[in-house]
Amino acid sequence: MTSHILDKPPQGAAEDWTVPQHWSRYTADDHAIWDMLFARQLALLPGRASQSYLRGLDLLRLSKPGIPDFTELSDRLMATTGWQVVAVPGLVPDAVFFDHLAHRRFVAGNFIRTRAQLDYLQEPDVFHDIFGHVPMLADPVFADYLQAYGKGGLRSLEYGALGRLARLYWYTVEFGLVQEEGALRIYGSGIVSSHGETRFALDDPSPNRIGFDLMRVMRTRYRIDDYQQSYFVIPDFATLLRATEETDFAPLYAEMAHLPDIRPDEIVAGDRVLSRGTQAHALSRA
Ligand SMILES: [Fe+2]
Repeated sequence: MTSHILDKPPQGAAEDWTVPQHWSRYTADDHAIWDMLFARQLALLPGRASQSYLRGLDLLRLSKPGIPDFTELSDRLMATTGWQVVAVPGLVPDAVFFDHLAHRRFVAGNFIRTRAQLDYLQEPDVFHDIFGHVPMLADPVFADYLQAYGKGGLRSLEYGALGRLARLYWYTVEFGLVQEEGALRIYGSGIVSSHGETRFALDDPSPNRIGFDLMRVMRTRYRIDDYQQSYFVIPDFATLLRATEETDFAPLYAEMAHLPDIRPDEIVAGDRVLSRGTQAHALSRA
């Protein structure tokens, strides 16, 4: 989801930018890193992750130990919600990314982080992309949401509103919280795949936790270099799907063009604040 990339697929990639996963090229250490990250997150996620996410994890558990083979994973995902996982060589152009989503194909990096990068990584690796994203794709409602997002993304390019729509992805698919049985649960891939942010997003007094509102989210800038300063909470996935499928985004984009952006730490009039953060974490790093 950025623009500093090539205009056409690099050598060895198909027209749609996909490449073979080359599963057989992973080393024993690559698989060991996956297994270690998997076990570490699994110990944290029950009681913290959404039931939808935890149910979807079964899909990954069916895989052999180590990094899953995308072909096997896609077969199971296809039988569950009609999604597939395809490998790409790093970041791809926005239109390519959206087109894959609109066709129920999730694009994943095929490299895995090194032991020196266990907790911080700039570019999403196979652990983030698969462990973080694939379980939610097994949820039928979320699966429809992500496809609707892809279609909306393609339209947003016509309106020059890509940046607004990217924020929706960020604050839901990547860093979303959901209300379940009276408690907050995490479902965003950036949280569930991060040892530190899994606890921070739910337990730390630092960030704001604010009720989801489509336009509010699309006006809010975000952090790419640290934990989020605000998280947005959806009541359930059906609400998120409806908000995306049934909203005509064009008038919203037109309206937002006259409104200022909202800072990542800001609380604004009209917010449904679940908890107002101290922002101590961000202040300590400033
Ligand atoms: Fe992601």
